[in-house]
Amino acid sequence: MADPSRHPFLQGLSKYRGAPATVIVIFGASGDLTARKLLPAIYNLSHDNLLPPDFYLIGFGRKPVLEEEFRGHAEAAIKEFSRREINPAAWSRVARNTFYLTGGYDERGAFDRLHVLIQKLEAQAGRALQSLFYISTPPTVFQPIIENLGASGLAQRHFGSPQQSKAVIEKPFGRDLASARELNRVIAGVLQEAQVFRIDHYLGKETVQDLLVQRFANAIFEPLWNRNYVDCVQITVAEDGGVGSRAGYYEQSGCLRDMIQNHTMQLLALTAMEPPVSLEAEAIRDEKVKLLRAIQPLALGPGGDVARGQYASGLVGGQPAPGYREEDGVNAESTTETYASLRLAINNWRWAGVPFYLRSGKRLARRVSEIAIQFKCPPGTLFAQDGQFDLAANTLAFQIQPDEGSTVLLNAKIPGLETRTQPVKMHFRYATTFGSNTPEAYERLVLDAMISDGTLFIRGDETEASWRLITPVLEHWQAQQKEGLDSYAAGSWGPKAADDLLVSHGHEWRKP
Ligand SMILES: NC(=O)c1ccc[n+]([C@@H]2O[C@H](COP(=O)([O-])OP(=O)(O)OC[C@H]3O[C@@H](n4cnc5c(N)ncnc54)[C@H](OP(=O)(O)O)[C@@H]3O)[C@@H](O)[C@H]2O)c1
Repeated sequence: MADPSRHPFLQGLSKYRGAPATVIVIFGASGDLTARKLLPAIYNLSHDNLLPPDFYLIGFGRKPVLEEEFRGHAEAAIKEFSRREINPAAWSRVARNTFYLTGGYDERGAFDRLHVLIQKLEAQAGRALQSLFYISTPPTVFQPIIENLGASGLAQRHFGSPQQSKAVIEKPFGRDLASARELNRVIAGVLQEAQVFRIDHYLGKETVQDLLVQRFANAIFEPLWNRNYVDCVQITVAEDGGVGSRAGYYEQSGCLRDMIQNHTMQLLALTAMEPPVSLEAEAIRDEKVKLLRAIQPLALGPGGDVARGQYASGLVGGQPAPGYREEDGVNAESTTETYASLRLAINNWRWAGVPFYLRSGKRLARRVSEIAIQFKCPPGTLFAQDGQFDLAANTLAFQIQPDEGSTVLLNAKIPGLETRTQPVKMHFRYATTFGSNTPEAYERLVLDAMISDGTLFIRGDETEASWRLITPVLEHWQAQQKEGLDSYAAGSWGPKAADDLLVSHGHEWRKP
């Protein structure tokens, strides 16, 4: 149904055609994320005519950079990282309205200069501009940036109108429950929740959004989506790469903070939440928070619900790979986990008794992210052979990356005179069905923030619900130091302790 609050000329058009005139300010504009993701995303939105006619971009950073230099840097980044070749007309629409401002993130005067520049652009456009402040710096400066947005009045611009200011905040959102709460407190002192867009770029991936469609647009799944039919759920976010050049960050973070607390918990929430009453942002976020709150606290210590590991040297794709402690910038005695897995119990009507297994790690056998719903086996008496029951569990797996799509594993008869069964797979592949030119996650997320749609962003209470579960594990591992930190060979599927989490419940990890 058409949204009656939209301008009459926009009725019937995609909601994405109605973004208000906007200025995006990127804090940390000389950084890696800006070059690899944000600038290509903005360019591709321009290419698809999805930016409003009055669109401005301001890079902000400490290093003195000339405007011309920043435009050159942006063009080079787009040439290198965009999913499409640069089209001069689409780029020049952005380039001619691109500016750079040098200043410190804790320097109040720099924010006043930014305010003056935005006012100048408004005068040039002849209309009010929405300001979208994209905070793409290391988290150490999230707080001064937010406080200065408040102190300079930038956060309050056009408050209450469609042009009101917004802030997009990159991950990681806090290091534990206390720091996430503190950051939420600082934000709440400056911005209303509706002005805040906490990023988890996994939510911008097509396949993650497709999860909602597959779950709620297909009648065949819903009756099975509960403890009566589901045996267990396995969520894997596996990387084959090592720590690379990010050792400084990773040594302070580890896998639980870097991957499990955000991406895997988000995948879990979308998989297990109750059907929302609508696809409105708040309806979906309410259900995610309810689900996260229903997870039982984790049992720590021997025989508990958690396992961790650190990669040792090994072979990845046939090539020798060093162990984590031999990597550049890593402490030779490091106890940082590069692998983490959890066994979760969700204490609600739908999922009581169904284990949810989460795992993530670096230098694993394959780069793959997937959600696998493993169903209970049918009684196998009809197909038992020599007293052996040999049916595979039906499994529905959503591949988030790479090779996006979904697979159903069924049992089929092997052709021949005997009745023998074999598991077979039915595949749906995005690239085959729809072509491979799908938008990148950041395109969708930047555009959603511009039109104030928070569905694919994380609400403050969600971040805290997730940290509430994870923080005791972090503290336990911190206290344990080396004890219980297993090593695993690079190129394997992780430490034995992670296998034991499942074996004790009669399951085993899939090899996706
Ligand atoms: N890179 C990725 O692929 C990726 C993926 C997901 C999330 N993120 C998140 O996105 C944010 C930005 O990531 P990034 O990789 O672009 O970071 P980055 O390259 O390390 O930093 C971005 C910019 O912030 C400024 N900066 C760096 N260190 C600083 C410090 N200690 N104090 C103040 N300013 C500093 C620098 O700009 P100036 O010197 O010009 O001020 C730098 O160019 C981070 O929160 C990160 O966790 C990144």
